[in-house]
Amino acid sequence: MIGLFERLARPFLHALDPEDAHSLTIKMLACAPLPRAAGDDKRLAVRAFGLNFPNPIGMAAGFDKNAEVPDALLRLGFGFVEAGTVTPLPQRGNPRPRVFRLNADRGVINRLGFNSQGAEAVLRRLAARANAGGIVGINIGANKDAVDRVADYVRLIERFAPVASYVTINISSPNTPGLRNLQRAEALDDLLARVLDARERVTRRAGPTPALLKIAPDLSLAELDDVVGIARARRVDGMIVGNTTLTRPASLHEMKIAEAGGLSGRPLLPLATRMLAETYVRVESAFPLIGVGGIDSGAAALAKIRAGASLIQLYSALVFRGLGLIGEIKTALLSALERDSLDSLGELVGADAAAVTAEAWPS
Ligand SMILES: Cc1cc2nc3c(=O)[nH]c(=O)nc-3n(C[C@H](O)[C@H](O)[C@H](O)COP(=O)(O)O)c2cc1C
Repeated sequence: MIGLFERLARPFLHALDPEDAHSLTIKMLACAPLPRAAGDDKRLAVRAFGLNFPNPIGMAAGFDKNAEVPDALLRLGFGFVEAGTVTPLPQRGNPRPRVFRLNADRGVINRLGFNSQGAEAVLRRLAARANAGGIVGINIGANKDAVDRVADYVRLIERFAPVASYVTINISSPNTPGLRNLQRAEALDDLLARVLDARERVTRRAGPTPALLKIAPDLSLAELDDVVGIARARRVDGMIVGNTTLTRPASLHEMKIAEAGGLSGRPLLPLATRMLAETYVRVESAFPLIGVGGIDSGAAALAKIRAGASLIQLYSALVFRGLGLIGEIKTALLSALERDSLDSLGELVGADAAAVTAEAWPS
């Protein structure tokens, strides 16, 4: 049903400005009577960060920035949803237009700049569904004009840890000037010390809430050495690799690549998968990784897992492939397990990481 509806709706949505199409999609998800996806094969289940995921496919941050439709997304078959990025105070983000479809490349460029309804509104929604079951994490970010950005993250983790399944510390959006500087060694160490300390304080009353770090795919390998070293020393619960890229791969065709902003979707797959494998070999199984960037098929999902992802997330491919992609990925992952007579995806995680790091750098 939803597949048919989507196939009919997609040409209409693509005729709209991308941001208008997105707002309409959120409205439809919020009010349409959605069928519940079939229960997941138990071989797709993943245990990570102390949480039990029914399947490894997550909705990446940025789709449901204000936590308006997490339960609709879970119903449609996602194994988990990452709401946000939420900022402490409401902010409008950059002027429109600020989202661009690269149809020929199956990519997206966005420079939204953390448009957010703010912590109060998002907190209210997550608190209202806190006992509904299902894994719903929240991705947190600083306000553009914050004087003390670290204080923004501290305030957000304190407020959201009690109502979210996990909290992602997002220091990798390219659209808030200077935000990515928080990935530099000294700044990151200070940030993680203060944020994880705040998490400990709330743990006493709210129970343990995993804290994940989401990084940019544009770090140099020397910077990645520092980031992973600090993440391990500060004992984050996991990392997400990664956010959109400021690079423009040579393969791109579309004229719109001249637009400023972060690139996502298919053109991001080689770089994001390489950075995932580079992260995996440095983390040495100290914590699990979520692989995100350019997943648009079962084969791409499997490649992410084999490069080191225990869980995966996607966003841009939904614009071009629709929700049927979720079922397609599940089928492909189960076939991969059957082919190798395996009982769980865990046995595939990182199988190709060393080989991927030996390849030529993606151009
Ligand atoms: C329109 C748009 C908005 C996004 N907003 C956020 C965001 O608010 N926070 C965040 O951490 N990532 C955000 N992302 C990045 C995605 O979560 C993801 O890391 C990236 O798009 C790569 O995955 P994909 O190729 O499957 O889209 C956004 C991506 C897009 C396309």
